[in-house]
Amino acid sequence: MKMLLETKGLKAFYGDFQALFGIDLSIEEGEAVALIGSNGAGKSTFLRAITGLINANEQDIHFNGNQIAGQSAHSIHKAGIAMVPEGRRLFPSLSVEENLLIGSAGGRPGPWSLDAIYDLFPDLVTKKNNPGTALSGGQQQMVAIGRALMSNPRLLMCDEISLGLAPKVIKSIYEAIPRIREGGTSLLVVEQDVGQALAVADRVYCFMEGRVTLTGTPDELTRHDIAAAYFGMQEEQEENN
Ligand SMILES: Nc1ncnc2c1ncn2[C@@H]1O[C@H](COP(=O)(O)OP(=O)(O)OP(=O)(O)O)[C@@H](O)[C@H]1O
Ligand SMILES: [Mg+2]
Repeated sequence: MKMLLETKGLKAFYGDFQALFGIDLSIEEGEAVALIGSNGAGKSTFLRAITGLINANEQDIHFNGNQIAGQSAHSIHKAGIAMVPEGRRLFPSLSVEENLLIGSAGGRPGPWSLDAIYDLFPDLVTKKNNPGTALSGGQQQMVAIGRALMSNPRLLMCDEISLGLAPKVIKSIYEAIPRIREGGTSLLVVEQDVGQALAVADRVYCFMEGRVTLTGTPDELTRHDIAAAYFGMQEEQEENN
């Protein structure tokens, strides 16, 4: 398998505050990888560092064989990385269709078009002329995913796609993932629902306090391992002994 994304010893800072302490993470072409971890673990920071939204100068981030650390967000997007940000961030004054079309700007050629997005999320068809803000949270999330797909990314990174949504909506969003992969896009999904993460991913990484505390395939990982990596429970138990 070809390596699509690889970070080695990735660090990230907000001013003097260090949020990531040397992250080694890789995604092979075609893979779906889940990133789990509690609040403040550094998941969103990791995505921001990859996409060029926070400074990653002098870091080691290889994408599709090229060093992308320190490049502009624009050129990283053009190289084929798209992100669905935390909180969706649609353009409120634009319609659903206009929001989707903005996603295609500066993107790559490929299978995703307006028609393909409406086929993936039929709920959006009758809403195409409505402003993004007139939609339910789940529909807004579909637009946000569609907008990212419109650039025909090699890698789609989704930050907390199920947060705050009803179970039925979460189900329909997760049902889209195999189809996204069929289109040739690899995935990095940040997910606080561990069960959901294990169900969708080929491999899982757990972050805690800016470090990778666990990685493996869903089959390899026990509930105990995950709880320990997620909450640092093992250390607490050892301290108590
Ligand atoms: N803009 C910022 N300025 C300063 N510190 C920040 C900023 N954004 C995040 N942080 C800090 O960086 C650390 C990692 O935050 P990050 O948002 O990456 O975590 P997360 O894993 O995405 O958490 P959540 O599950 O709450 O989204 C936290 O300690 C957070 O307080
Ligand atoms: Mg976050």
